[in-house]
Amino acid sequence: MKGIILSGGTATRLFPLTATTSKQLLPIYDRQMIFYPLNTLIEAGIKDILIIVSPEHSGQYLNLLGSIFSQNKIRLQFKVQKIPRGLADAFIMGENFIGKENVTMILGDNIFEKNFSSEIKKFRSGGLIFAKKVRDPERFGVVKFDENHKAVEIVEKPKKWISDFAIPGLYVYDNRVIRAAKEVIPSERGELEITEIHNFFLEKGELQVSEFSQEWLDAGTFETLLEAGKIVKEKKLYEKFNPLINEAILKFNQELKILAKKRLI
Ligand code: G1P
Repeated sequence: MKGIILSGGTATRLFPLTATTSKQLLPIYDRQMIFYPLNTLIEAGIKDILIIVSPEHSGQYLNLLGSIFSQNKIRLQFKVQKIPRGLADAFIMGENFIGKENVTMILGDNIFEKNFSSEIKKFRSGGLIFAKKVRDPERFGVVKFDENHKAVEIVEKPKKWISDFAIPGLYVYDNRVIRAAKEVIPSERGELEITEIHNFFLEKGELQVSEFSQEWLDAGTFETLLEAGKIVKEKKLYEKFNPLINEAILKFNQELKILAKKRLI
């Protein structure tokens, strides 16, 4: 299983914060947002991770993450996305990186309380996405279930209510996702929509949708960014990181302190 974190975009809703850095490098309490999706992938046992970033922030990502993992335990690669073309573009950009394997893609601004390790490790083929009941489904990709809790319809930001179940930004697909992404026609907003990929597998009867109730935060507005920091602190989510990433962050922090001291002398 390969992993992709999609961390591009301009995040205009967070101007002026995102005039100087990437949204996914903004702080969620005591660490950068990107560490949360990174942790979700590492918890699932994924060791090869591609981070897709925008050109103006690529240097910042390299400074933070470029040498954070030692001894090849986690292998990070970076790719620069010049123009954001929609979520499904990640699979086209990542084609060589994915190779012949399955892939889990996570959005760089999605923070999950739940550990998805067992579901992702069990995945063999088709598609696996998740569903969470929300108050404002019109903001998301939405899935409708029938009376047997089988997914029957998936719509991106439905104008007319179809269900309260939003699909968060964590997607697991088999290798056919590359072909599916190449077939997607841009939507009205000019994007290769991820819902087209869900529907590719749904139509084949090969899409599993797993419901969960734990916290899911997407930190895309001032309110949700602040809220995310509060919840992370309240629930001490930063204490629940995988040791691999926790040790890496601690070591990195120590190195930074040593460097800062040297500069002072
Ligand atoms: C994207 C997806 C949507 C999904 C959401 C999760 O929306 O298109 O299906 O529910 O992420 O955060 P966007 O953030 O592009 O509006």
